Amino acid sequence: MGKLEGKVAVITGSTSGMGRDTAYLFAKEGAKVVVTGRNEARAKEVVDKIKADGGEAIYVLADAADKSFAQAIYDATMAAYGTVDVLMNNAGMLSLAQFATITAEEFMEDININVTSALMLSQKFAPVMQAKGEGHIINVASIVGWAAHWGFVAYVTSKHAMVGLTKAMANELAPTIHVNGICPGAIKTAMLASVGGEDVFQPMIDRTCLRRLGEGSEIASAALFLATSDSSFIDGQLLRVDGGVDV
Ligand SMILES: NC(=O)c1ccc[n+]([C@@H]2O[C@H](COP(=O)([O-])OP(=O)(O)OC[C@H]3O[C@@H](n4cnc5c(N)ncnc54)[C@H](OP(=O)(O)O)[C@@H]3O)[C@@H](O)[C@H]2O)c1
Repeated sequence: MGKLEGKVAVITGSTSGMGRDTAYLFAKEGAKVVVTGRNEARAKEVVDKIKADGGEAIYVLADAADKSFAQAIYDATMAAYGTVDVLMNNAGMLSLAQFATITAEEFMEDININVTSALMLSQKFAPVMQAKGEGHIINVASIVGWAAHWGFVAYVTSKHAMVGLTKAMANELAPTIHVNGICPGAIKTAMLASVGGEDVFQPMIDRTCLRRLGEGSEIASAALFLATSDSSFIDGQLLRVDGGVDV
């Protein structure tokens, strides 16, 4: 029997990268998975693969920049499965804009997509989890939520906010709902590729004990730990999954 047998898991930003790897792992562990993102072709591909492998999933197209984001995902989840057990707030974007020239609009785009959407979606699902007496929320922050590392001012600020949001929600929603976060280091995904090539990656790799980039599947296994009673006495924590950066 899988570790998430009979559970319903909503994973935002699961059309690619670490969210997609988590969707595959959660489905393999028996969860009914709600896949979300903006790209329909990729969303359908993820759902088709889960079903082909014997799992259960639906997809919802929703833009985290839109006010309708949380309601759309909530409505589709409740219509399909009638409940939720695990919410992983993973959707995110990275603005390359720098301190000297970033506009207020560019700054707020990172904040809204990376943080506000997570709060709004959690606000929708928390009462469902409270009513059933348990639930797990996992917020994906970043190692740049601990220390700045890079000069991407909006992204760094948004990930520090995600760390704060995780702690605030853990206090607010205990003891029924466990709220924890993951701080990934440099993980091989489309987002990392958008930052640059080898010249950018090597200095990051040099700062890790393990001397390599991470895989999306390594974030997925950390998420599985935080989504089950295996982490029953862990709340309000941010788990660094980064290969040992600056240790
Ligand atoms: N890769 C890294 O090194 C790294 C390190 C630390 C933290 N993170 C965090 O990990 C999370 C996942 O990123 P990833 O690396 O897996 O990148 P990715 O492969 O680019 O995936 C990003 C996901 O977020 C979704 N997304 C982006 N903007 C969205 C929007 N406006 N509305 C709805 N969905 C949106 C994308 O779906 P659509 O394209 O379908 O909209 C996609 O499924 C992010 O929160 C990121 O900040 C990544």
